Amino acid sequence: SLPEKGSITSEAPSNIALVKYWGKRDIQIPENTSISFTLNTCKTITTLHFEKKENLTNDYSFQVYLDGERTTSFEPKIGKFFERIEEYLPFLKNYKFKIETSNSFPHSSGIASSASGMAALSMCLVALEKQIDNLKDNLYFQNKASFLARLGSGSASRSIDGPMMIWGKHEAIPESTNNYAIKYDKIDPVFKDYQDTILLVDKGEKQVSSTVGHQLMYGHPFSEQRFNQAQDNMVSLLEILESGNLKDFINLVEREALTLHAMMMTSNPYFILMKPNTLEIINRIWAFRKETNLNLCFTLDAGANVHLLYPKNEADKTLDFIKKELVAYCKNGEYLCDNVGSGASAI
Ligand code: PMV
Repeated sequence: SLPEKGSITSEAPSNIALVKYWGKRDIQIPENTSISFTLNTCKTITTLHFEKKENLTNDYSFQVYLDGERTTSFEPKIGKFFERIEEYLPFLKNYKFKIETSNSFPHSSGIASSASGMAALSMCLVALEKQIDNLKDNLYFQNKASFLARLGSGSASRSIDGPMMIWGKHEAIPESTNNYAIKYDKIDPVFKDYQDTILLVDKGEKQVSSTVGHQLMYGHPFSEQRFNQAQDNMVSLLEILESGNLKDFINLVEREALTLHAMMMTSNPYFILMKPNTLEIINRIWAFRKETNLNLCFTLDAGANVHLLYPKNEADKTLDFIKKELVAYCKNGEYLCDNVGSGASAI
């Protein structure tokens, strides 16, 4: 039976892909497999208040509060999300929801909150389902949270667990599926506490939404090669993650990042999402690496910010370098220190 009312709080982190997801078909089916580090401190905390409607109506009722303030800007996205998932959560129209959400990272930092936000909301919805029908095991609910999150935003499927998550079917990875992301932890200890310092180069609005970006892979002259390359890179990366070979890790991760941007530069319409300071930072990283033989490397999302990845035992030297050389290229000198984390949780 349906509980009358209550509230559920969950938190979910952001994630950073190493082999990138770029290109999808149908309803959030990725064209290639992707893998990410789950982050730790960049996260969304969401409380879902639910109350049974007095009279059943044929619509979704919800209100969204961001940092305590009512906002309507997410309503279209969440409305569409509810439409997509109702088939899997048939109780949605029975309730009035109040969704209270806040992010640990600053607004308009240029860090997308869609992965952590959709993952946190999905965790809440699955917790509600669990209250209604608790006959399934934990893995079922975990996979379902990832499945729902995927329907909200593809990369959100990878924010449910950690230290790493794989999303998308790959013939060499038996449990992998397009439906939800799976936890991956066959990794060398060096990766279990890897550091990710996010250098905030540009805090502006995204130039290209990921919806548009994924679409640009249709009819793209290099899409087939790209999807095949990603599948090959997955196999190579899993070997690297197991062996702990950091030089190979650096090579693959930076190639993936630049390939993502190369796809955008060679689509029609075309985009350059890097800023001059993005390139300055990349060049500094390369020079510093050559000079010191340290193992820092960069990766990029669909934007100008740089994720600087490095092993924990090199954190002191790398942070020194960030403060001395890289901060100058960050907007207002801002950067965020994060590290590999363990995923979403109900609180
Ligand atoms: O989840 P979306 O649709 O916002 O796509 C995100 C795509 C990238 O962040 C650029 C890469 C990835 O795999 O996360």
